[in-house]
Amino acid sequence: MKINTVSVFPNIIKNNLKYGIIGKSLKKNIIDIQNYSYTQFLNNNERIDDQIYGHDPGMVISYQKTYNLFKKIKENNKSSKFIFMSPKGILLNNNLVNKISKEENLTIVCGRYEGFDQRIIDDFCDIEISIGDYILSGGEIAASILIESVSRMIKGVVGKENSVIKDSFMNSLLKNPVYTKPEKFKGKKVPKILISGNHKKINNFNRKESLKTTLEKREDLLSYSELDSSERNELKSIKNIKLNKNIFISLIHFPVKNIKNEIIKTSLTNLDIQDIARTAKTYGINKYFITHPIKEQRMLAEKVINFWDSENKRINENSKHEAIKNIIIKNSINDVIKEIKKICGKKPTIISTDAKRMKNMVDYDLIRNKFLSNNEPILIVFGTGWGLTDDILNKSDYILKPIDGYNEYNHLSVRSAVAIILDKLFGCKF
Ligand SMILES: C[S@@+](CC[C@H](N)C(=O)[O-])C[C@H]1O[C@@H](n2cnc3c(N)ncnc32)[C@H](O)[C@@H]1O
Repeated sequence: MKINTVSVFPNIIKNNLKYGIIGKSLKKNIIDIQNYSYTQFLNNNERIDDQIYGHDPGMVISYQKTYNLFKKIKENNKSSKFIFMSPKGILLNNNLVNKISKEENLTIVCGRYEGFDQRIIDDFCDIEISIGDYILSGGEIAASILIESVSRMIKGVVGKENSVIKDSFMNSLLKNPVYTKPEKFKGKKVPKILISGNHKKINNFNRKESLKTTLEKREDLLSYSELDSSERNELKSIKNIKLNKNIFISLIHFPVKNIKNEIIKTSLTNLDIQDIARTAKTYGINKYFITHPIKEQRMLAEKVINFWDSENKRINENSKHEAIKNIIIKNSINDVIKEIKKICGKKPTIISTDAKRMKNMVDYDLIRNKFLSNNEPILIVFGTGWGLTDDILNKSDYILKPIDGYNEYNHLSVRSAVAIILDKLFGCKF
């Protein structure tokens, strides 16, 4: 592969790449690197940067002063992919590294100061790449990282190709833990299977360890990895043991608002009983509380629950109806809180939901990170009618951001909202 770099400090790149296997492959000409300095094309003491237009402070790499350099590199490297190192670029990952390693000719351009005059990018850039969500003073280290990672994918650079195939991020998994001699030191032993000599068993063991390591450290990667259904189920059950078993939801029929912002009672909706119960069970919710202050409405809810319960017993043993058993009917939200205190020995953290955007609302990841994997009781409250009253919202510990599409219309039924919100908070990501 031929690589051109363009930078203010080419020596940073040269020094970074002179060691180890990359250094060797440069010597063996498996990779051929040409490091250009911007100043090579300028008159003595001329700078490549100039003041930024507008009122922001800082200097910008000039379009005019670099134009000839980029044009010349392009003319001499007709098939070259021009990569600009930039914090505004696509985040570098193993897939991108792999894709870039298939190119025959790369030109990697490093910025400094406030970056490039936009016209340089418009004219010459094929792809902008960032190495992470932070700012470096210049692109030389970022370019070195790109070159190092891309080179490892090129045949002949890493001696044992198989070791690249088994690296972390291949098939979107982290590598299994590895060990070396001695078998035992300070009472700590190497897993027995690894010294059994049985390749099949060792491969199975390492695959399982790799899956577990990925689940523990980078669950997000699992959604891109190829898992068979037994592996997926095993990972789900490992995760399930650690999940919060004290998550409760409640559907409120009073006090809620109507369209005129008046406080009202709404009537029970038959569909909300079984549908929400099934959603709740799917996402591991401990109890689904339906609250209504009117006795006849609570009786109606009981009647629907008994219907499903008895139908289930009478017609079949369909596990779908198991969800019904997790419903509890209460008069008010205060009774719900008291009941949770009885179950968990502690008042729950109250998390409210609303369809309109307000200040101080929290994101789903915050609640997921805080409550998914401990046993702190939480109660997620859903309103009916035109939503929960200000009183309930103000007394909540958190209010979740509304779920919405990319348009103004936002009239989800509460049972749809429950399903989407529970999936965002507690859904399996792989
Ligand atoms: C100080 S930075 C300019 C940052 C710019 N002011 C901004 O906020 O987007 C100067 C140069 O360093 C390089 N650089 C900085 N952070 C980077 C990152 N995370 N990934 C890739 N290159 C980076 C780029 O080449 C960039 O043009």
